[in-house]
Amino acid sequence: MLKGKPLVSIVSAGLSKFGKLEGLYAREIFAQAAKEAFDRCPNLDPKKEIQALFVGHMGESYEHQGHTGSTVADWAGLLHIPAIRTEAACASSAAALRAGIFAVLSGLFDVVMVGGVEKMTHRTTSEVTEFLAMASDFPFEQWHGITFPGLFALMATAHMHKYGTTEEQLAMVAVKNHHNGSLNPKAHMQKEVTLEKALSSRFIAWPLKLYDCSLITDGASCLIITKPEIAKKYTDLPIHIIGSGQASDSIGMYERESLTSLTAAKISAKQAYEMAGVKPEGIDVAEVHDCFTIAEIIAYEDLGFCKPGEGGQLIERGETKLDGRLPVNTSGGLKSKGHPVGATGTAQAYEIYLQLTEQADRRQVKDAKIGLAHNVGGSGATAAVHIFRRE
Ligand SMILES: CC(C)(COP(=O)(O)OP(=O)(O)OC[C@H]1O[C@@H](n2cnc3c(N)ncnc32)[C@H](O)[C@@H]1OP(=O)(O)O)[C@@H](O)C(=O)NCCC(=O)NCCS
Repeated sequence: MLKGKPLVSIVSAGLSKFGKLEGLYAREIFAQAAKEAFDRCPNLDPKKEIQALFVGHMGESYEHQGHTGSTVADWAGLLHIPAIRTEAACASSAAALRAGIFAVLSGLFDVVMVGGVEKMTHRTTSEVTEFLAMASDFPFEQWHGITFPGLFALMATAHMHKYGTTEEQLAMVAVKNHHNGSLNPKAHMQKEVTLEKALSSRFIAWPLKLYDCSLITDGASCLIITKPEIAKKYTDLPIHIIGSGQASDSIGMYERESLTSLTAAKISAKQAYEMAGVKPEGIDVAEVHDCFTIAEIIAYEDLGFCKPGEGGQLIERGETKLDGRLPVNTSGGLKSKGHPVGATGTAQAYEIYLQLTEQADRRQVKDAKIGLAHNVGGSGATAAVHIFRRE
């Protein structure tokens, strides 16, 4: 494969409002995201031209509803196309995007919808925590009572111990992402937070506090992707996906080679960079998986935005702020935009699509041409990295 050759092109994208969407089922939320994608692309007749749907959805426990592919296809007005659910914990919709890329590259389909959805907020925090924990190892993690805040707290303490990363540096990630989220009308929590407030918030799993955690959120996201050769039929400004990587790791954190880095993310990034013919220095804007603030710091290092152990310094120097050298999580990230787990992967791609097509309004990054999305499943047993380029 030629380096930098478009694999597929994004011709439209949609995102529901993220937040507490009371009284709505996941299928209705997905329909909102699909409608935005259809409205944005008047040259496309969805019913006639979309040939398949891949949708990321983590858990049937939230709504006691499985069979998500067909359910959301119906509500998006896409009956009777093949509709397939992908599940890879919090990376479920990056997996849907990969499946869509494979489907188009195979030559079987020209136009495909990929997306994701999760409805979480009607359940109590303890129920959600238990459902989420199913994406960790049952016999040696869940059974002993550890939950995701606890697992990421282990990574945080290991990172602090090994590299001297501080609680202040973790809180700076929250301050940055809440600032970006305050500029995003679709974000769950559109409010700034001060360093003092983040640092004095209650402990969830030491050293992680309330403001180190992502939000429990309802939401959906989708993209319409096509063969690159036909993209101009639908839009003057297609965004090409030029790199795609995905890898897995042991489900149990105790089996991993490191607590301060995610091997699956490093492998995915290497694959995506090589395919795209792009180096970390070539990225203009990135959405990374900040399910906890420590995860964003580790992502900087795994993606090569800085050396191992220097993620804390990168945030401290302000390099990943909206006006910094490499703006990260301009959408507000999982921290402030929210984390409806199944929807997160394609919601990250949606933000990159907005940035590269200059539709990001008050959070627009000037002259952004190449973007990256980094999505992690669970505590790192899945990771996927995609690289996007405008023409
Ligand atoms: C951190 C967490 C436990 C807080 O849940 P909670 O204690 O039940 O909090 P509540 O929902 O009762 O909310 C209490 C207040 O905190 C706020 N809040 C809740 N979660 C928040 C978060 N993550 N960041 C900032 N504020 C938050 C609420 O808006 C509410 O504010 P208000 O009193 O002004 O209305 C929960 O958000 C959580 O589990 N997050 C992580 C989700 C996760 O693990 N995702 C998968 C990652 S792999």
